[in-house]
Amino acid sequence: MSEVTTLDGARVVVTGGAGFIGSHVVDALLRDRRPRSVTVVDDLTNGRRENLATWSDDPRMALVVGDVRDRSVMDAVLEDADVVMHLACLGVRHSLHSPEENHSVNADGSLTVGLAARDAGVRLLLHVSSSEVFGTAQYAPMDERHPTWPETVYGGAKLAGEAYARAMGRTYGLPVIVARPFNTYGTRSHHEGDSGEIIPRTIVRMLAGHAPVLYGTGEQTRDFMHVRDTAAGLVALAECPAAIGETVNLGTGRELAMREVCEVIADAVGRPDLAPELLPARPGDVGRLMVDATRMEMLTGWAPRTELVDGIAELVSWFRASGRTADELAAEASTTNWGRAVPAALRDGTTAGRVLAPAQAASR
Ligand SMILES: NC(=O)c1ccc[n+]([C@@H]2O[C@H](COP(=O)([O-])OP(=O)(O)OC[C@H]3O[C@@H](n4cnc5c(N)ncnc54)[C@H](O)[C@@H]3O)[C@@H](O)[C@H]2O)c1
Repeated sequence: MSEVTTLDGARVVVTGGAGFIGSHVVDALLRDRRPRSVTVVDDLTNGRRENLATWSDDPRMALVVGDVRDRSVMDAVLEDADVVMHLACLGVRHSLHSPEENHSVNADGSLTVGLAARDAGVRLLLHVSSSEVFGTAQYAPMDERHPTWPETVYGGAKLAGEAYARAMGRTYGLPVIVARPFNTYGTRSHHEGDSGEIIPRTIVRMLAGHAPVLYGTGEQTRDFMHVRDTAAGLVALAECPAAIGETVNLGTGRELAMREVCEVIADAVGRPDLAPELLPARPGDVGRLMVDATRMEMLTGWAPRTELVDGIAELVSWFRASGRTADELAAEASTTNWGRAVPAALRDGTTAGRVLAPAQAASR
């Protein structure tokens, strides 16, 4: 197998590069390294051109609007590529209302990317998986040998995707690294629709004066890593020859309950008076996640830098500077964002682009 030692001079393809984490990977590549080119493949389902605005006039960056499931698209972009970093996906809540489409992108799409990477002879496929492949922690901290018992179709499809990526290495000799980020937050994160995650959703709610919403007990824990750290960790892995053939967890090793996260946000927003509202448990919501980051540190010597309070303060400022009102943002942050997608034919001014909660969906 060929060895990857640097992304300087490399032609890098980033799938899902217009999305939340992917766009920070593009930033990390173009800001911190000297790649010959960075080509983003994104169908813009949840990604945004604005996320790449810093580089729109940079001749090294190109955005190809396309579907990773389309083999002809992947063959064309990978023809001259050295490295592919595969992040394109549909999210966990999407998998609750649209499991087949979720599987199609996260599992089938990963197979297509892997096969195209194999046939193009890239020198590295960095496949981005997820801690959701584990399901809830059976022990903590969770190392790479923790059992993989996903609780959602998303987790199952991500597990299939990473297995296909490893198969490209084991069966066909393609240099492959599988990264499993745990929960990531930071600028450009999604507060809206079925992509909305707890930190951005809670921030926009509290900025608009609404109480944060917790599901079940609110004692579920996560290992939250700042997106610049996640991106830097992925780049560090891509430059680590010793990581080829490995599957590596990516997180901070610190565990925080959802309730505690709300307290940090309340302080950052200046609304400690807003007590969390408890709703019934969400489907497929895992109870506990906490990373054992030993393998990542041993392989790369890399460790995350951003403290949660600082990352949250930055995100609050980012939303405040977005040019949108707090009420507009909060209106997009559905608290029950796992319901059935609104069919296009039924969309009107009030439901366009949103998903319905199960009860609402049933009544339509
Ligand atoms: N956000 C997290 O906390 C987290 C945690 C662990 C792992 N991950 C993984 O990180 C990766 C990026 O996630 P994210 O949070 O940035 O999500 P995101 O939705 O912001 O980014 C995914 C991107 O993929 C694009 N996309 C979707 N379907 C596509 C298709 N068929 N073809 C091409 N592009 C398509 C979307 O438009 C979007 O820009 C994913 O693989 C995800 O599983 C994310």
